[in-house]
Amino acid sequence: MDPRVPMRITGAVMTAHLDHSPRTGARGEDGDSLPRPLTVLGIETSCDETAAAVVRLDPGGGVKVLSSAVRTQGEDHAPFGGVVPEIAARAHVETIEILAAQALDEAGVTRAALDGVAATAGPGLVGGVMVGLAFAKAAALALGKPLVAVNHLEGHAVSARLAQDTPYPFLLLLVSGGHCQLLDVRGVGVRRRLGSTVDDAAGEAFDKIGVALGLTYPAGPALERLAEGGDPRRFPLPVALKGRAGCDFSFSGLKTAAARLAQSLHTDDDRRDLAAAVQAAIAGQLVTRTARAMALFAKDHGPGDRRFVVAGGVAANTHLRTRLMDLCQSEGFSFAAPPLAFCTDNAAMIALAGAERLALGLSDDLDAPARPRWPLDEAAAAATPTHRPGRKGAKA
Ligand code: KG4
Ligand code: ZN
Repeated sequence: MDPRVPMRITGAVMTAHLDHSPRTGARGEDGDSLPRPLTVLGIETSCDETAAAVVRLDPGGGVKVLSSAVRTQGEDHAPFGGVVPEIAARAHVETIEILAAQALDEAGVTRAALDGVAATAGPGLVGGVMVGLAFAKAAALALGKPLVAVNHLEGHAVSARLAQDTPYPFLLLLVSGGHCQLLDVRGVGVRRRLGSTVDDAAGEAFDKIGVALGLTYPAGPALERLAEGGDPRRFPLPVALKGRAGCDFSFSGLKTAAARLAQSLHTDDDRRDLAAAVQAAIAGQLVTRTARAMALFAKDHGPGDRRFVVAGGVAANTHLRTRLMDLCQSEGFSFAAPPLAFCTDNAAMIALAGAERLALGLSDDLDAPARPRWPLDEAAAAATPTHRPGRKGAKA
């Protein structure tokens, strides 16, 4: 970037407020709350969905999704059984500008009426993240609006709020293709990790086992359909981290065992029963760890705060949702989950996460980096990395 280009659009204040509830409007230079809505353009390019959305956050905390445009690259990657980073990045380059224009059009919002531009800055496939973040920086610079560099996982964390009032604090189960963790979410940017996967994410297990069963990547939704009416008890599958206390997850043993079993099946009934067993095993593990996390959460928060949120692509799974709702009922927690369209990657959640930060007076410099790894609870990830830290630090 040209060093003569002014880098600071607004002062970046990267602190978080523990007792925050994003019910104030924009803040003025002196920190006073301005009672006006914030309209934010969100950009998402961290994996295989290119997305742009416009969201309005009202001073009272009300949220309105004015538009949400998503282009899924599923077909581009399907022949390879997984996301190919170079194909993803190229597809984001080709689509992002069109989608952003479409999102603004559908929202009926002019560029001048925006209060800021928010983009996923990580974690994710760094080539794709760079495309969306660079686009957002250029838009912010050209329009003279603040940039918010959003953690993709913070987007998932607020996604339930797109459709339903979900005040902080809440217990979050974040289950997607790349992430699987339990977090005590106390406010914007303030969360404590209670558990995390020690190997694969739940969505990855759905995808890899589904592909072994002959389904097309990403295979989670197809595996759910295949499992309908299947007998989940016919194929016993390994139980992960047996006898170990705590809220961590492991899916690699299950993935390997089920993928091997899948090779030896002959009939559609066999495949249906294995799909049902896999779905039940994944949901079972998620539910037992969530129950333990609820006990930890209940120790730190009052009875009035017992709220549970499930988010991320795997939260679209009906079997899982039903079991989590039952758990909430037995443990005295309220249940919230985003509508299906906001479970998988989308830009509305990024726009909302950005708006919540803007409402606190938080924004980022134009040299904000794209971060392939960016844990939500950085202190916990550094102290007890569930993945071995790589060259770029602990994984999310
Ligand atoms: O949140 P997301 O769109 O992307 C990541 O950030 O990873 O999640 C995608 C993941 C994929 O693994 C996909 O197979 C899984 O969510 N998924 C499902 C279902 N719908 C999407 N897994 C199980 N059942 C579903 N209905
Ligand atoms: Zn995601």
